[in-house]
Amino acid sequence: MTIACRDSSFREADRLNRNHGYADLEEHVSLTKGLFVTFEGGEGAGKSTQMRLLADSLRARGHDVLTTREPGGSTGAEAVRHVLLSGAAEAYGVRMEAILFAAARSDHVEQVIRPALERGTIVLCDRFMDSSRVYQGITGNLEQAFMETLERVAVNGVIPDRTIIFDLPAAIGLERARRRAADERPDRFEKEQLETHEKRREAFLDIAEADPERCRVVDATRPVDEISAEVLSLVEALLPREDESHTSTAEVAS
Ligand code: TYD
Repeated sequence: MTIACRDSSFREADRLNRNHGYADLEEHVSLTKGLFVTFEGGEGAGKSTQMRLLADSLRARGHDVLTTREPGGSTGAEAVRHVLLSGAAEAYGVRMEAILFAAARSDHVEQVIRPALERGTIVLCDRFMDSSRVYQGITGNLEQAFMETLERVAVNGVIPDRTIIFDLPAAIGLERARRRAADERPDRFEKEQLETHEKRREAFLDIAEADPERCRVVDATRPVDEISAEVLSLVEALLPREDESHTSTAEVAS
């Protein structure tokens, strides 16, 4: 089942919901089919900070928001996260890692993301299927058909409504990521060469170009508040307008 929530269908569903009178829209802006937004990009692009800021803004506007991340986000996926990021699976090859990322994603989708969307929640996810396309598919050199099959099985129809790609030169991102984790060893993926990170940047931009309906690229070299304003506007464009999300008595009665 695809929980793709395009502008118009979403508005229509929300209208029907209101007209049946069971949505408590005065207190809570409840979406019939939820909204799925993913945050993608290289290391140190500020995705996590931006996701937190967006969640705060949406909650302040009365929305029900769930923030989550990959690899992880569900009990099963968090168990696999450690195996992947510690590098424990590296010795078994990139194909094995790709399958583990997909296994984690499948658990996350079925246990957490799909149920939340069905409840009408806005789900914000730090990395999702595009990270696998880029890290395992492009820089891991795995065949496209294999990656497409894994993706199809893992997401099982749950495709993001909007993917925000945070773009910045790899050297800046890596420097930021290293400063942030000065006391930690770089993880399995951070430790790779600058050239690999640049290739990933290009790969994310290629994804955005190939799927302009779903993806938006944000220049992540700018100040945090400028970026957060843009991110909010990109997501607000998919939400019902204020005047549509509150029902007047006359409307309900008619
Ligand atoms: P993490 O510390 O969670 O976050 P981030 O780099 O986003 O701040 O690291 C996750 C790492 O896992 C990151 O280097 C990207 C990598 N990754 C993949 O290789 N494939 C995937 O499908 C996902 C979701 C992540």
